[in-house]
Amino acid sequence: MKKYFTFLAFILFGILTACKDDLPVQPPVTDYPAPTPYTFPVLPGFPAQNTKADNPLTIEGIELGRSLFYDPVLSGDNTQSCGSCHNAVNGFTDNGKAFSTGITGAEGTRNSMPLFNLQWNTRFFWDGRAATLRQQVLMPIQDPVEMHELLPNAIAELSQLPGYKAKFGRAFGTEDINSERIAKALEQFIFSMISGQSKHDLVLRGMASYTDSEQRGQDIFRAEFSVPGSGRPAGGDCFHCHTTVLFTNNQFANNGLDSVFTDVGYESVTNNPLDRGKFKVPSLRNIALTAPYMHDGRFTTLEEVIDHYNSGIKSSLTLDPNMKSQGSGLGLNPLQKADLVAFLKTLTDTAFVNNPQFQDPFTP
Ligand code: HEC
Ligand code: HEC
Repeated sequence: MKKYFTFLAFILFGILTACKDDLPVQPPVTDYPAPTPYTFPVLPGFPAQNTKADNPLTIEGIELGRSLFYDPVLSGDNTQSCGSCHNAVNGFTDNGKAFSTGITGAEGTRNSMPLFNLQWNTRFFWDGRAATLRQQVLMPIQDPVEMHELLPNAIAELSQLPGYKAKFGRAFGTEDINSERIAKALEQFIFSMISGQSKHDLVLRGMASYTDSEQRGQDIFRAEFSVPGSGRPAGGDCFHCHTTVLFTNNQFANNGLDSVFTDVGYESVTNNPLDRGKFKVPSLRNIALTAPYMHDGRFTTLEEVIDHYNSGIKSSLTLDPNMKSQGSGLGLNPLQKADLVAFLKTLTDTAFVNNPQFQDPFTP
């Protein structure tokens, strides 16, 4: 037995020394252990996870993304972060403002958009000009009326800050900081922001029940339009566009806000006049938290939004075909309008907006 081991040790020694002589000394491929896969919360009724194959979500990647999201270092004068215009308590929109102000004090022309359930969205921004979230997240950093920073500056500053090299190392294996990794980390953080715990969800899961008014509101939301006085139940037709559990069909539509357009919306991306005045159909989740409403924040309250659909529809060539048949709107009575608002309020997900996972890590 002893003889056998000596023999084995001899062979092993031979192999090791041979290798040492033949191969040049290799630097380690990675400095950090593999990051920890992130387990998604299971939400009944939600579509299957839809993250990117080249950027699996990990605890360390999401954590880095959260730091970047809330770090003003990504702006030109280090005063503004993504979180400045996407505040949790407002459903990740801009603090009740119609338009956001960038670091130079310049005002943008569109209302800040809520951030959740975006892994199931197909295009980004009100006009859809970003085809992927990964492209989108680098745009506000460089936008002159937003964070107004050059990516090489942001990368240089991040490299100087204590902690970031190690955070990139933990998330991606090595300490390199580059724009692709910044985008991937922000993508991971935003993809992890899932809202599916509203009263509406609890009702679907049999864990809560609607008030009578909320129930009537949901019925109107999900019913086809019917001409008032026709004897058929009142219908809001909302579900045609604000569809599925996500409350959006991921399309672009003209919902009758204007007949002449100062902002042409989706047409600026497609160059197709048939897309004039079409905007991304937004999710209605957390809608009670995200006022003011529409791409330009023109409505202050949900009641004003319902009045628009009820009697304010403006005709134009690209107006949604279903809305064309409604004339100036739905013609609901005051009780029906109030019911619709009551239903919309059941889409508020306080567990989501208060989730510590999505809060600013820099505030004590
Ligand atoms: C100055 C305010 C401001 C800052 C800072 C800002 N955003 Fe935004 N964000 C907006 C506005 C306004 C829009 C809508 C713009 C448009 O449609 O043209 C928007 C849209 C978005 C969207 C599109 C959502 C959708 O449903 O299509 C995402 C995603 C987003 N922002 C993420 C970020 C990230 C990530 C950062 C930081 C890197 C950031 N934002 C910084 C104001 C801001
Ligand atoms: C033809 C598709 C369509 C239908 C039908 C529709 N919407 Fe919309 N909705 C949109 C689009 C598109 C926007 C964004 C328009 C914009 O900002 O220019 C929007 C915006 C909204 C907003 C504001 C969202 C925000 O984040 O600012 C609310 C609230 C809303 N809709 C509720 C409803 C309700 C309630 C109904 C039914 C009475 C309804 N919608 C029917 C397409 C539709």
